Amino acid sequence: MLAARAVSQSASHPLSGLVVEDVPAPVAKPGWSVVRVLASSLNMHDLWTLRGVGHPAERLPIVLGCDAAGIDEEGNEVIVHPVIADPDAGRGDETLDPNRALLSERHNGAFAQYLTVPTRNLVPKPAWLTFDEAASLPVAWTTAYRMLFTQARITAGDRVLVQGAGGGVASAAISLAAAAGAVVYATSRSSAKREAALSWGARAAVPTGERLPEKVDVVIETVGEATWSHSLRSLRPGGTVVVAGATSGANPPADLNRVFYLQQRILGSTGCTRSELVAMLRMMDATGVRPVIDQTLPLDEIAKGFQLMIDGQLTGKLVIHPPAPEGDVA
Ligand SMILES: NC(=O)c1ccc[n+]([C@@H]2O[C@H](COP(=O)([O-])OP(=O)(O)OC[C@H]3O[C@@H](n4cnc5c(N)ncnc54)[C@H](OP(=O)(O)O)[C@@H]3O)[C@@H](O)[C@H]2O)c1
Repeated sequence: MLAARAVSQSASHPLSGLVVEDVPAPVAKPGWSVVRVLASSLNMHDLWTLRGVGHPAERLPIVLGCDAAGIDEEGNEVIVHPVIADPDAGRGDETLDPNRALLSERHNGAFAQYLTVPTRNLVPKPAWLTFDEAASLPVAWTTAYRMLFTQARITAGDRVLVQGAGGGVASAAISLAAAAGAVVYATSRSSAKREAALSWGARAAVPTGERLPEKVDVVIETVGEATWSHSLRSLRPGGTVVVAGATSGANPPADLNRVFYLQQRILGSTGCTRSELVAMLRMMDATGVRPVIDQTLPLDEIAKGFQLMIDGQLTGKLVIHPPAPEGDVA
């Protein structure tokens, strides 16, 4: 089958380690299922793997891709929950299992014609979602959902700042928070992405680092060093920053005086549980919110998608289509 693999890592030239090639199709272990991938989508995580961040070189080569939607061996339309973990080991929350792995960390990922995951990780795809939309959800959208509703526990009327409007997680956070009745502010370096944020329901969108019209109750942070001080400055006393990423750098100024004097709370968040993915689907059904898709590319052109992500040119998600297996008429 055709797959996009990371074969080597380079911090400065990450695409030098990306190869699209034929590899053996996966065979399911007991308790696992094979999924024919119809759509997958790109995440910063794939770029981190190619850069050698958080992914040991001993685990190469590996098929990249954390997000997938497709068809299982019984013909069911499925979304793949990407956190492979034991809920019991995480006291009921698989994201707290010390041995959890995101798809493509220890097991071959989604940029391929087929993948295999524990059968528990298959979630029925609702008919009202396209495969492209479904493949945009498992990492970015569920991360945003957990940050807003599980970690920050936002309620209608809360004021929420989302940093870096154009990102996969950020675009999801803007749409979900607005649908939940929050007053949403967004920042972006790009005027086109600020315009887009308004169309997803933000009250206002300002250039990165610019003062907001009012203090907020919650900040959704995935940008890191470039926006961290602004996040703390924008937060009301007693407010909460939820942080799930650090694209621009992971060593932000501490601003500890502000944190203790204003009694601010800083919460980390990683991934989501299967039940959060199911709950988010119910919310999307109820509200009509759908993922923002920038564009789609065939698997053999995936390098172009990575370059757009490196250049900060994406607004929302970039979807990847593997070729249909030979003889397949679906
Ligand atoms: N913890 C988790 O479970 C989890 C899950 C998903 C993602 N993440 C992390 O979250 C981060 C975002 O992921 P993503 O998939 O949403 O990536 P993405 O779609 O590529 O988004 C990148 C974002 O970073 C912003 N940005 C990048 N460099 C910037 C800079 N120098 N100054 C200001 N803004 C900058 C962009 O904002 P504008 O272009 O709009 O300015 C954009 O919002 C990544 O670090 C990723 O690893 C973590």
